[in-house]
Amino acid sequence: MKQLSNRQILLGVTGGIAAYKSAELIRRLKDAGADVRVVMTQAAQEFITPLTLQALSGNPVHTTLLDPEAEAGMGHIELARWADLILVAPASANFIARLASGRGDDLLTTLCLASDAPIALAPAMNQAMWRDSATQANIAVLKSRQAHLFGPAAGEQACGDVGPGRMLEAEDIARRAADLFQSRDLDGVSVVITAGPTREAIDPVRYISNHSSGKMGYALAQAAADAGARVTLISGPTNLPCPARVSRVDVISAEDMLAASLNTLGKCDVFIACAAVADYRPVAVAEHKIKKAAEQMQIALVRNPDIVSTVASHPRRPFTVGFAAETRDLEHYARDKMTRKGLDMIIANDVSDNRIGFNADQNQVVVFWPEGRQAFAEMAKSQLARQLMALVAQHYPHARAAAQPSS
Ligand code: PMT
Repeated sequence: MKQLSNRQILLGVTGGIAAYKSAELIRRLKDAGADVRVVMTQAAQEFITPLTLQALSGNPVHTTLLDPEAEAGMGHIELARWADLILVAPASANFIARLASGRGDDLLTTLCLASDAPIALAPAMNQAMWRDSATQANIAVLKSRQAHLFGPAAGEQACGDVGPGRMLEAEDIARRAADLFQSRDLDGVSVVITAGPTREAIDPVRYISNHSSGKMGYALAQAAADAGARVTLISGPTNLPCPARVSRVDVISAEDMLAASLNTLGKCDVFIACAAVADYRPVAVAEHKIKKAAEQMQIALVRNPDIVSTVASHPRRPFTVGFAAETRDLEHYARDKMTRKGLDMIIANDVSDNRIGFNADQNQVVVFWPEGRQAFAEMAKSQLARQLMALVAQHYPHARAAAQPSS
């Protein structure tokens, strides 16, 4: 099982003799399924060439902040948003000090400031530098800001000293990076997620659909699997690979999606309806391709079944979470949908701005439940999905306890 499948890791390489181990680290991260992009500081390039790391990562290596050519490709803000994790290995004493003081004086420190992704550091330095009170104070600051520390290991050092400060081995760093994506919040819980669009056939070659790419629903499926859930992803047509440790059921139309959803009831604890289901379908599907004739034509439509409300009103109902894609009056329409559809929770998605929501890599939502709300800042769908699954995991045990008959 590839533990880093679909993970986007930005590997920062700073100046130190351990930079040669970054080459091996890229291989280990890629073996685990990660997509790796490398950012090197000026000093790192004294120890290993960008070309080596480019060849191993399969992506161009980023080295400078103010490079018009690089900005024309993946610019620094885009790179900051792209990352699911920023892993700095080796992290030198100088880099740690610059990060702790909040500087943005090169590409790597700027990316750390500009990204919402978690930051992990694998320190590598001389044992006296590691033990120095200034370095220890900087480490304390970074830990207080939730940075993850991988190592350092103790042992013989390149300079001949013996003590703490050696960078961990590549294999160990890759395993710790994978562990960061796992939580046990939903251990043993069965989660069903609908994702993507539905297609409602008009004739054998045409259909009614929408712009959903499936990215949000697939990210939720990955996050649920990482939290220990058994995940079934009921997916409309998308171009996305199935997330690791997720079982996918492919469907086309709303009616197919309803049938697949009903099939999971009884063995589903949490149902999350992220799919953009067509509200209507043609009354009849033409047997043959419709020929062009009159100037105007009309297609009679009929309402599709409402999948999430059918699930929520079922005698074996799971904890049911819906989405509300709205272009105005977000809270009003979302709360109204939550009540009408009998949901436990609703994730309101402002889709008026095409930078977020449909077919975008970023999203920004507000979650409502009967007694509360929580707003989430704009971030990558993968990060948002992890935060949303953590919120669902907090609410699900209470819902389950409330549903138990008292003895
Ligand atoms: O797929 P992406 O490109 O990543 O985009 C993500 C998204 C914008 C599609 C997603 O975040 C989102 O907002 N999904 C819900 C889209 C939608 O159709 O919303 P709605 O407000 O029309 O529907 C409300 C809820 O009812 C949704 O949970 C929907 O899945 C459900 N529904 C709607 C109609 C229907 N016939 N059956 C349903 O179950």
